Amino acid sequence: MATAIDFKPTIIGFLCNWCCYGGADLAGVSRFQYPPYLRVIRLMCSGRVDLEFIFRTFAKKADGVFVGGCHLNDCHYNPEGNYDAMGNVLMAKRVLEKIGVNPERLRLEWVSAGEGIRFAEIMNDFSAKVKSLGRLGSSEGIPVAELSSRLQTAEELVPYIKLVERERLRVPVRTEEGYRQFFGSPQFDSLFNELILDKLVMSRIMGFVRRKPVAAAEIPAGLDLEPSEVARHLQQLTERGLLKFDAGQKLVAAV
Ligand code: FES
Repeated sequence: MATAIDFKPTIIGFLCNWCCYGGADLAGVSRFQYPPYLRVIRLMCSGRVDLEFIFRTFAKKADGVFVGGCHLNDCHYNPEGNYDAMGNVLMAKRVLEKIGVNPERLRLEWVSAGEGIRFAEIMNDFSAKVKSLGRLGSSEGIPVAELSSRLQTAEELVPYIKLVERERLRVPVRTEEGYRQFFGSPQFDSLFNELILDKLVMSRIMGFVRRKPVAAAEIPAGLDLEPSEVARHLQQLTERGLLKFDAGQKLVAAV
């Protein structure tokens, strides 16, 4: 069995072609050392790193996900692709936290093509962090199969999350500080809970019931949720006709 010392994490890095990938390349040719855990996916812009990519990468059992882009206001597209990346990463961290994945497994950094040493330093630091967290699921105390199922549910919800972001969760000021303030604000918390978290919990309940008919009392323990929260959502799901009780008083999906 792998011990904490010989555990070799899998870290997937989405690197923007124009800056961070250049920084990684420079680190390589300059022989700056960092652990060999990173698997690079090169994209034209960090703004291309969709929420879906992040959830799917974790669902495929990555222990850490890194997103690297050009410094703010240096993006070659849009010209604000890296602001989009920041919004996606901050949103993904909130969702990850709610489904039980440690959000520190996801990291976003800006690295220019001339910052090879900075890239190596970041990779040393992030690799040590992911290594200290252990395999996906171990620091969370959740079996990896259960985490994968939660991540899949989050991935399926991405089109809805994007719609909510566009209609109700627009960041008012496009600066780094503006993003951090907005995502840390009570206004964001309340809209996130009302519009996204509730939908996420309902999707998880639907997914659980679709696997096999279950008694209502089995759901809180099965999904690691509070009984009162489950009761509230079950009422809504049955009222909307999405769930119903079968002859044995087990819940089954009606659609
Ligand atoms: Fe590098 Fe957009 S081109 S972040």
